[in-house]
Amino acid sequence: MTREYRLAAIPGDGIGKEVIPAGLDVLDAISKLEGFKLCVEHFGWDSERYLKTGEYIPAGGLETLKTFDAIFFGAVGSPDVPDHVSLWGLRLPICQGFDQYANVRPARVLPGVQSPLRLRDASDIDWVIIRENSEGEYSGSGGRVHRGLPEEIATEVSVFTRSGVTRIHRFAFELARKRPRKHLTLVTKSNAQRHGMVMWDEIFMQVARDYPDVTWDRELVDAMTMRMVAKPRSIDVMVATNLHADILSDLAAALSGSLGIAPTANLNPERTFPSMFEPIHGSAFDIAGRGIANPVATFWTACMMLEHLGETAAANRLMRAIEQVTARRIVTPDLGGEASTALVTESVVQALHD
Ligand code: IPM
Ligand code: MG
Repeated sequence: MTREYRLAAIPGDGIGKEVIPAGLDVLDAISKLEGFKLCVEHFGWDSERYLKTGEYIPAGGLETLKTFDAIFFGAVGSPDVPDHVSLWGLRLPICQGFDQYANVRPARVLPGVQSPLRLRDASDIDWVIIRENSEGEYSGSGGRVHRGLPEEIATEVSVFTRSGVTRIHRFAFELARKRPRKHLTLVTKSNAQRHGMVMWDEIFMQVARDYPDVTWDRELVDAMTMRMVAKPRSIDVMVATNLHADILSDLAAALSGSLGIAPTANLNPERTFPSMFEPIHGSAFDIAGRGIANPVATFWTACMMLEHLGETAAANRLMRAIEQVTARRIVTPDLGGEASTALVTESVVQALHD
């Protein structure tokens, strides 16, 4: 029987509407070559819909989404909707509703891509950032009282739970264990934040005992930014909170050449719910509609999705095709090239056949 997967495609806003179709073209090609089937359903949940109807996700939408094997997501965000409204309207309800607590963000310098750092070797940067994706600074806990008055107070409460912290550390150790270097760096800010961050450190040390084959060290988040620039080779996998890893992953993307290539997977490792795969870059309205959005982040994201679905051969083959195309410098303007989204896409499809 042919292997078959049901995929929910949510292009969302801005360049999401360009890169997701490009990603689906590439997925279509690889599925035919590797002999599996992707049944894709499209969901037009975007800011336009929100402005018309007052909601991003229609009633019962999450229930429908729950039945899919994976979610392929573009971006959310529009100049006409405040960012916190769009984020909490579409992306976070999916991440939190489906308990996608492990956010995985690989960073590498692809062939033909120039890092702004003077690296000894492109392999100096070969990192995976594990971002806690369900609580912490993004828990949504807090509020505002005495709105608009001089005595107004706003609280934004970081929530850390023992179960939430334990599971992300376990996930990080498991992932580090599968990599050649087997090294994990714990990133917190436990010198200044003495409750939640100290608990993060304590739980990490407890979990570490179960993984004697993984070496580890720790770094404060501010020092980690320096280490990423000054000693990139000393890093393999890092685990950090929702906000810290958000910031570190933009730095990682820039150091590996462009935000336009950075992929991510929002995983529910227990597979109780579908996981969601998306490029990190966001809706990028400044270049939307011009046909120059870099589809590489979405292609790499598709590799992560294929891997998650168990199509490892397809994932590797697609990654090789992407690397062939970047090596030949068929790249979009963010990487210093002149290629369009369409040309990069056609070239990757072509390279899959080579
Ligand atoms: C990311 C993005 C989002 C985040 C934005 C769009 C809210 O920066 O995925 O890193 O902070 O989670
Ligand atoms: Mg970010």
